Amino acid sequence: MTQHSTGTSITFDRATKTYPGAAAPALDALDLEVEAGELVCLVGPSGGGKTTALQLVNRLVDLTSGDIRIGDRSISDQSAIELRRTIGYAIQQSGLFPHYTVAHNIATVPTILGWDKERIRTRTAELLELVGLSPVETWLSRYPAQLSGGQQQRVGIARALAADPPVMLMDEPFGALDPITRVAVQDEFLAIHRAVGKTTLFVTHDIDEAIKMADRIAILKPGGKLAQFGTPSEVLSNPADDFVAEFLGSERGLKRLALTTVGEIVPGRSDRASAETAQWPDVEATMTLREALSVVSAARAEGAIVHKGGNRLGEVSLHDLIAPPVAVEDREGVRT
Ligand SMILES: Nc1ncnc2c1ncn2[C@@H]1O[C@H](COP(=O)(O)OP(=O)(O)OP(=O)(O)O)[C@@H](O)[C@H]1O
Ligand SMILES: [Mg+2]
Repeated sequence: MTQHSTGTSITFDRATKTYPGAAAPALDALDLEVEAGELVCLVGPSGGGKTTALQLVNRLVDLTSGDIRIGDRSISDQSAIELRRTIGYAIQQSGLFPHYTVAHNIATVPTILGWDKERIRTRTAELLELVGLSPVETWLSRYPAQLSGGQQQRVGIARALAADPPVMLMDEPFGALDPITRVAVQDEFLAIHRAVGKTTLFVTHDIDEAIKMADRIAILKPGGKLAQFGTPSEVLSNPADDFVAEFLGSERGLKRLALTTVGEIVPGRSDRASAETAQWPDVEATMTLREALSVVSAARAEGAIVHKGGNRLGEVSLHDLIAPPVAVEDREGVRT
């Protein structure tokens, strides 16, 4: 692997955008700090200012007032071109150049940066592996139209990562995918994020996607105002107001159960009578409490037997699943 930057913070400092002729701001005095290496999801209703917030960072849109800093440096202290070389940008429908091959698409920014051919070749191969497109030779000379939507999306992510930028901006990057491909690409991206630790601002309509992906979630409300900023656990447990509660939906309690895995709460082998647990279904330790609850409900059982790698870890009761120990949720609440 090439050397990876460790990421750098993004600070919105009363960042405001009012589009010409608009009566009210699209983004209104946003204060938000995305820490180095953190993945923050920006969610909210359509027209809430999410794309505007993202495009202010790479200066596709200019601030009306306030400031945005990357690390200690204001985005206005450098040219837009210079700035964009340090920011990976991935958008819905991948945004690939249709008349460029996969290799050519990925090489766009490295070429501008004057990398030599060999370095670009090595980096391209490494990235295609990283996003799960191997063997590499299969993909290099294809055009975007010769790829499925999910494959295009993966190439779009590879292209955004190409020059190893410390900051990634992603605007509904998985929005066009079917649910199954979407889960696969989400998992792929999370694994990449954990491996390379870019500071990432990720826009999504999908609150479940945000809960799954985010270290912290920023919820914007109409008028581009920040409604709440917190960990998934904090937001789900304590919505700041009625707008947030409604946005999270009536399944807020169930969604919270998706933050914890069965393996985290299994108490170890208990002294329950085997007659009691004989009819209980099996669940994997990696399942979320929500998924396990679904299995238990489908089996009309009172609990489940937890397995990991073929070994029986213990049992969890229905009560364990719906009311996990507070300590587990707290740990979840401070994850970084
Ligand atoms: N270039 C523009 N000129 C004028 N108004 C704009 C422009 N771009 C966006 N807006 C307006 O700014 C507001 C915020 O738009 P933005 O695209 O940031 O919302 P969003 O949260 O990304 O919405 P969506 O979820 O639908 O993508 C909207 O009212 C929109 O109509
Ligand atoms: Mg948008």
